Amino acid sequence: MPTATFKTIDSLDVSAKRVLVRVDLNVPMKKGVVSDATRIERAAPTIAELASKGARVVVLSHFGRPDGKRVPEMSLRPLIEPLAKALGKPVAFAEDCIGPVAEDAVRLLKPGEVLLLENLRFHKEEEKNESGFIDKLSVLGDIYVNDAFSTAHRAHASTEGLAHLLPAAAGRLMEAELQALDQALGNPKRPVCALIGGAKVSTKLDLLGNLVGKVDKLIIGGGMANTFLHAQGIAVGKSLCEKDLAETAREILAKAEAAKCKVLLPVDVVVATEFRADAPHRVVDANACPDDQMILDIGPRSVAGYIAELRDCATLVWNGPVGAFELKPFDEGGVALAREVARLTGDGKLLSVAGGGDTVAALAAAGVEDKLSYVSTAGGAFLEWMEGKALPGVAALIRAA
Ligand code: 3PG
Ligand code: MG
Repeated sequence: MPTATFKTIDSLDVSAKRVLVRVDLNVPMKKGVVSDATRIERAAPTIAELASKGARVVVLSHFGRPDGKRVPEMSLRPLIEPLAKALGKPVAFAEDCIGPVAEDAVRLLKPGEVLLLENLRFHKEEEKNESGFIDKLSVLGDIYVNDAFSTAHRAHASTEGLAHLLPAAAGRLMEAELQALDQALGNPKRPVCALIGGAKVSTKLDLLGNLVGKVDKLIIGGGMANTFLHAQGIAVGKSLCEKDLAETAREILAKAEAAKCKVLLPVDVVVATEFRADAPHRVVDANACPDDQMILDIGPRSVAGYIAELRDCATLVWNGPVGAFELKPFDEGGVALAREVARLTGDGKLLSVAGGGDTVAALAAAGVEDKLSYVSTAGGAFLEWMEGKALPGVAALIRAA
């Protein structure tokens, strides 16, 4: 996606203006307490910059999937303090994101102050991108800034609709995400490698189909590699495997061959009799998984082979864990790969971009989540972008430019 085609906050005069900033505060929460503040910390710079330029900043976000109902556990209230902490300034709160409650709170805002509105998804019209609801949001602001790349795959009122009604621009996080993604797949330095893992091929068919036409090398790991091994006539014992997708896997391999994309599958694997931490395990050739065992990680020869391929590459885009990283010691393959990616990146030899749900957790398990060129905060949006789909939130910003 070309990054030059949307406005950024550089082109805005926000002084004393009411700026509606859509961020993604949909953070992991345990018992009402934020358990990972990454998304809050990544949203803070745009809010802080707007406030420092004298804007009256009105922060919009969803949390969870309350389905149009006011679900108390999905209130944004517990996020006031973490957001204030990330910003280093107080954050006001309004119990509703539209109507008199929101309007009164916005009216009280002085230049440089920040107001957080209650969960957008307490109104079902948000997800329906309903025009009456967009109108009610739009009267709260003079300018709209979208800083929520991770919700850009949703065509909702706050992610898409508002861009048509108010002068619109991308926030700093959106800008950084799009720039990183463009460097990874849009206009990458070659050779470019995609490292794709995760449990199931079925969730990544479109992604694989798109990637084989774009990247020079495709490394397949995780449970989904088993489906590819099976599709080539290799027995995978009790391993997770989507046997009904064997034909599809063969089609992807054929498409890769036609596009001259080199596909790498594990040559050795770690097998165990059961899916639990520290289950008795051993390394076998990828074509020698015993009938009563399951593949839980890639083996050391696979790791070495993948690393050798990565050393030849200029760009890496990574989505999905290569092994059952949540169970030790089946995280070892992924940890070794992640550390090498971090090392190559640190040495300036590789531009590395990673994203998508479990990917960040797998990188964190290896202690390298801050050592790649860019780690996206997005899950579903990152996947849809890798699938080559237009993201409605981004498309609206481009149209508005
Ligand atoms: C996410 O966490 O992926 C985004 O916040 C989007 O949430 P959603 O999948 O509920 O739309
Ligand atoms: Mg999601």
